[in-house]
Amino acid sequence: MHNGKARAFTNIALIKYWGKKDQQLILPMNSSLSLTLDAFYTETSVSFSKNYTEDLFYLDGRLQGEKNTQKVARLLNLARKQAGINEHAVVYSQNFVPTAAGLASSSSGLAALAGACNDALELNLSSTELSRFARKGSGSACRSIYGGFAEWQKGDSDQTSYALPVESNHWEDDLAMIFVIVNDKAKKISSRNGMQQTVETSLYYNDWLKAAETDIKTAKKAIANQDFHALGEVIEANCLKMHATTLASTPPFSYWTPDSLKAMNKVYEMRQAGQNCYFTMDAGPNVKVLCPKKDSQKIYDELQKEFSEQQLVLAHAGKGIESLETEVAK
Ligand code: ADP
Ligand code: DP6
Ligand code: CO
Repeated sequence: MHNGKARAFTNIALIKYWGKKDQQLILPMNSSLSLTLDAFYTETSVSFSKNYTEDLFYLDGRLQGEKNTQKVARLLNLARKQAGINEHAVVYSQNFVPTAAGLASSSSGLAALAGACNDALELNLSSTELSRFARKGSGSACRSIYGGFAEWQKGDSDQTSYALPVESNHWEDDLAMIFVIVNDKAKKISSRNGMQQTVETSLYYNDWLKAAETDIKTAKKAIANQDFHALGEVIEANCLKMHATTLASTPPFSYWTPDSLKAMNKVYEMRQAGQNCYFTMDAGPNVKVLCPKKDSQKIYDELQKEFSEQQLVLAHAGKGIESLETEVAK
């Protein structure tokens, strides 16, 4: 029996990953930049044993079917190959984040699984190797290896595509992100399918790629200068450009709902009234508001005029992946 357990926090992209150039290896079309958060995370344990006759994946206590086990099986196979074993595995995962709702459950979920496999099979992967491994489960997971800001450098091969921490002089500790959860149910179009459809059909896709390259440079400069407004402006614009690509796809689609627009408008209004805040959104209807930590209570109170307390979650910068004790002795 080989057991391992890990906890990984979700990360929200400030400059988005949107499109793959290699779907098997999960190599992205563009580099991306994220902030790992403390409010949402996944804990996953894995046991490999000769006594198991198949791979089983339990998420939040429920045995998952074949479709939901696919991404998990992919990492299990890679881990077995690397360790030179062929034992089946049982995976227990608990999401402290709504699953598949555009709140980045695949980032914490697949990073935690990668960490648990690394521990169980004593693969001794370095952070870079663990990032590459997690990437093959879900692209965004490669950034959840690190706390704070991380950049996924797109690279051009399995070896060269991984995330690294972004030097920030701990500026992330002065920031906050308020989640406006307008819908926590699973989205209809997964990130994987949404981005693929966009790469294949969106009229704006090439322009997106051009913009993403410039935007990431601007964002890194803003982080180096600890310039909140410069960072806010570029992340909000980058998110809008990503969402614009979906409208120009065939068939067209959007992750937005009326409540998403309500939250975005509220951010515009607050800004006009002199508040420091900008929004970003992922593949889902939920809106995330970036603000300085010192202003977060004021902005939270303002958002509460439009949204209930249950819909609002205040988050700060989170930690990188961590190993946990397994219940069963090795
Ligand atoms: P999200 O916005 O939540 O990241 P995605 O469409 O990117 O949405 O990914 C959701 C999928 O990620 C789920 O359907 C499931 O396949 C996988 N996933 C989520 N959480 C976990 C977990 N804890 N362990 C393994 N896989 C997970
Ligand atoms: C909009 O990492 O969830 O959140 O690699 O197919 O698993 P797969 O997709 P995923 O895509 C995330 C898309 C995004 C932007 C981002 O997180 O960078
Ligand atoms: Co995801």
